[in-house]
Amino acid sequence: MSCASESHAYVIFGATGNLATAKLLPALYQLHCLGQLAPDVRILGCGRTPYARDAWRDVVRQHLGSADAGSLESFLLRLDYLAGDLEDAAFYQALDAWIGTRDCGNNVIFYLSVSPEFYVPITVRLAQTELLLERTGWRRMVIEKPFGHDLQSARDLQHELNTRLKEEQIYRIDHYVGKESVQNLLVLRFANMILEPLWNRHYIDHVQITHAETIGLDGRASYYDRHGGATRDMIQSHLLQVLALLAMEPPVSLEAESLRDEKVKVLRSIRPFDPSQLASHAVRAQYAGYQQEAGVTAGSHTETYAALKLYVDNWRWRDVPFYLRTGKRLKERRSMVAVRFREPPMQLFQGMGASTAHPNWLLIGIQPDDTVQMEISAKLPGQETRTRQITMDASVGNPGERQADAYEDLLMDVIQGDRSLFLRYDEVKAAWNIVDPFMRGWTDDERPPLQYPVGSWGPKAAAQIFGQADREWRQSLSCNGKPEGEC
Ligand code: BG6
Repeated sequence: MSCASESHAYVIFGATGNLATAKLLPALYQLHCLGQLAPDVRILGCGRTPYARDAWRDVVRQHLGSADAGSLESFLLRLDYLAGDLEDAAFYQALDAWIGTRDCGNNVIFYLSVSPEFYVPITVRLAQTELLLERTGWRRMVIEKPFGHDLQSARDLQHELNTRLKEEQIYRIDHYVGKESVQNLLVLRFANMILEPLWNRHYIDHVQITHAETIGLDGRASYYDRHGGATRDMIQSHLLQVLALLAMEPPVSLEAESLRDEKVKVLRSIRPFDPSQLASHAVRAQYAGYQQEAGVTAGSHTETYAALKLYVDNWRWRDVPFYLRTGKRLKERRSMVAVRFREPPMQLFQGMGASTAHPNWLLIGIQPDDTVQMEISAKLPGQETRTRQITMDASVGNPGERQADAYEDLLMDVIQGDRSLFLRYDEVKAAWNIVDPFMRGWTDDERPPLQYPVGSWGPKAAAQIFGQADREWRQSLSCNGKPEGEC
């Protein structure tokens, strides 16, 4: 494959942190192996830990342990390290000098893989050192989620960035949008005709979006307890992005602004939350043992599980509920979209040996399986007219095929200046507008969150937000061959 990128330098703030070592450096390594990085691309790790360049390369070598030895060594030659205090002007002078002596065409990406409280101080220092000015090359800044802590802090952050960077220089990353299966939502919806006539309130009963994790907080409980919670950490960003892609109108084109225009319209159409409906529209809970995690404040109300019921109040979706849920330390690692269709107007097969009717489902597996399945009813062989569920499987990818990590695509998009998969500020603002009232409702409610056992599907009360007996959380993808009523 030919090299697709211009010369540039990739500067990673927080290079020794978990995100950089677990995701960013492996993604850059893959781009290197695929021949997507120009030969003179240099990657500069920045952090407080005082590594010499070779020691830093050793650290990265260990993290990429299973990589092919030849490719790994050539990748490591791209790496450099600059230690210092990210709030100290001297560090930025050294950074300026480092950039000045690299053959990078004056193109620089600054990746802020640091705790959010450093976003503004780093930006201010970069601006003071004139490192954000685009004189001959380009300068781009990648900002990780969360973009702000709530609506007001997102506004403040935007103001600080805006005064120092042009909007085209800012890449608000949401890695979920980079997942193959999430990008496939657009293709599924807009490259096929069979779904579109059904994709509305007349045929869809409700939509479920699940992101379930078996992992807990793996050493970041203290940060999560103060700045996170499942709603802030997952729903405000990742799950609302999935909702927007599922519910949006066809974009005029795949240009960044067209896509973002449509997504933001959906987010703005979400019915404002009525605080008196907190109990029927939202559930929050903590896994048993969360309070004992190191770094968690005694009596903390931070939720490790959240489920919300949202309505998109527009022509297409009015009164179709979208149920979003996410949690840590659950039974399975599974992210999926489950779309339940309405039932036929007449139940012709009831009372003729058939058990209860089973509606059609479209099931889109995001991870670990990248799948698309449609459940339909068919006749069970035999004299009686009994029906069963069969699954039409249109799964993507082949078993054993390597799936690119979301960060690979997104890091490449930054290099190529393609912002279509990155969030525009008005999307972020609209998303905070949706979740803020729920979080305020919980803050005002003095009762502690519910508890759920580790390894379960969350609190039993999460079923209450359906508000009707024939709806329940869809836990698995496959129902293949089971008689109706057993799935
Ligand atoms: C991150 C959250 O944005 O996404 C984590 O901060 C979460 O808490 C992670 O575990 C999930 O993403 P993925 O791609 O690892 O499933």
